[in-house]
Amino acid sequence: YKLVILLSGSGSNLQAFIDACESKALPNTEVSAVISNKTDAFGLIRAQQAGIATACINHKEFASREDFDCALKNKIDEFGADLVILAGFMRILTPGFVRHYLGRLINIHPSLLPKYPGLHTHQRALDAGDTEAGATVHFVTEELDGGPPIIQAKIPIFDGDDAATLAERVLSKEHTIYPLAAKWFAEGRLSLQNSKAVLDDKN
Ligand code: GRF
Repeated sequence: YKLVILLSGSGSNLQAFIDACESKALPNTEVSAVISNKTDAFGLIRAQQAGIATACINHKEFASREDFDCALKNKIDEFGADLVILAGFMRILTPGFVRHYLGRLINIHPSLLPKYPGLHTHQRALDAGDTEAGATVHFVTEELDGGPPIIQAKIPIFDGDDAATLAERVLSKEHTIYPLAAKWFAEGRLSLQNSKAVLDDKN
């Protein structure tokens, strides 16, 4: 089962996938390629260290979002992906791109969606006086951070937390739930049906 992972930064979620594939927590699955829109993304180095093919497609070299997404799509399909995973990929994707991969394109967002789509999620949770925070894995649809949720992880917010401490604790939960969602895919248990995430309970 082939995963292609798109990222723009550190790639700690990518690392969680690499580790899960190696430890067989994600059986019969490989990260076949990592694609970044940033040349200096640390995630590219993580991939290279793990012997994974990488590509960098700089969005600034394209005249439009459509042109960039077209190049991205060609690269993904060149590698061959059963599932496309957004892991800190900081570009908004065009409707055409999203439609092409509908049902096999997932994202992780650092909030308990539908709360706080977009940026600065942890600060917004703190400012609102929330008592819990978390992360959501969801199918990607044309609505930004608005696709059907697959799995969420929650953590308590403690007195004295700031955006950085919260981000760190949420991130460590992300590293568990994201590979788990991919495992369900690889097992053929998870699909997008009538705009809902459906998990087959057989086991
Ligand atoms: C994570 O917080 C994820 O929820 C968000 O981007 C961040 C990526 O972190 N979409 P990393 O690059 O995987 O470390």
